[in-house]
Amino acid sequence: MDCYNDTEKDPISARVTVIIPTYREAENLPELFSRLAAVRKSRLPGLDVLVMDDDSGDGTPDVMAALHIPWARLVTRRENRGLSPAVIDGFKLATGDILAVMDADLSHPPEALPDLVEAILRGADFAIGSRYVPGAGTAENWGWFRRLNSRIATLLARPFTSVSDPMSGFFAFPRRILETGTPLNPIGYKIGLEVLVKCRCRQVVEIPIFFDQRHRGQSKLSFREQWRYLLHLRRLAMFKYDHLAHFAHFGLVGFLGTGVNLAVLTILDWVGIPIRLSVALAILTAMIFNYFLNRWITFTDGPKGSIPRQLAAFIAACSFGAVVNYAVTLSVIAVWPLASRFPQIASVIGILSGLVFNYLSSRFWVFRHRKA
Ligand code: GDD
Ligand code: MN
Repeated sequence: MDCYNDTEKDPISARVTVIIPTYREAENLPELFSRLAAVRKSRLPGLDVLVMDDDSGDGTPDVMAALHIPWARLVTRRENRGLSPAVIDGFKLATGDILAVMDADLSHPPEALPDLVEAILRGADFAIGSRYVPGAGTAENWGWFRRLNSRIATLLARPFTSVSDPMSGFFAFPRRILETGTPLNPIGYKIGLEVLVKCRCRQVVEIPIFFDQRHRGQSKLSFREQWRYLLHLRRLAMFKYDHLAHFAHFGLVGFLGTGVNLAVLTILDWVGIPIRLSVALAILTAMIFNYFLNRWITFTDGPKGSIPRQLAAFIAACSFGAVVNYAVTLSVIAVWPLASRFPQIASVIGILSGLVFNYLSSRFWVFRHRKA
């Protein structure tokens, strides 16, 4: 396919660092670098490469030494291994004004790099090599399962970005967007999505690419990575839809807590504990359950301070919430004739008010961030 055959165009003077994460890709490096060299010669004289290798043990250093490329540097990583940490380390070492990331297995055509760079020079915050825009294509003959899998993963990313191929690991951006100060989280495979969302990229350009079949070696995408992708999306939701996402988690925890409450009540009542005590114990159990779930799930990013003190604060906050619920329910009944005929309506409003109150006091009091 010749869609990048624009060698007659003028060279671009920008300084571009291409970061290539590798794990067991030694056999792909010669072809990769011969194609990168051609691109560098004709269009991108300011290009340099960082190969971020996780100590593959497949002769990668020998291959790099034999290639003897002055504009490429091999970094062998022995700690904190993984695709995203390798790429983030690359960001820190890169010296170019434009940073690009691509795979080593020749799925991503080096010949598309000038297009990505030009998009950035024209003012884009983020340029992405996409398989799904007009003019793009793919040679991967995936089975239906992997295709479905990829479709679902792409759909799940929709709330964060409207780009057609948010899963792509082929992208470029100006170094300045890293200066927003938001730390990049290195957990998960989709580092492009992480940068796109965390750096609040607005002007995003998609460049059609021909996504080639991996030439040699094996893919490293595993089920574990897919599970971690879901956790990654959850974290991005907490980041992008801050209150809405935290409140949804809080509400879900509250819903589960209601189940715990009812279950405990049923059991205690069944074994013959007096009802008043049963009700009180059921509520207390549910509160403790909710506290731990909120600590582990809703406010994962909150302080990990002393549990007894935080638990006491949580119970206190929730009892205020109960008072709010009670007061709102009675007030609604008092002022709204319809609600006096259907107290359930007032009760729902009361419960929601209590929930919002509990959420706000949990977030800004129990799990608040203390200034250092
Ligand atoms: N340093 C390092 N450490 N590199 C890694 C690691 C790791 O633990 N795991 C994978 N890599 C490197 C590979 O050597 C390759 O260069 C690149 O990351 C992508 O890995 P593949 O194993 O080829 O991934 P894939 O083909 O399943 O996924 C590709 O397609 C996705 C879209 O479907 C990649 O392009 C992804 O980035 C992309 O999102
Ligand atoms: Mn691949």
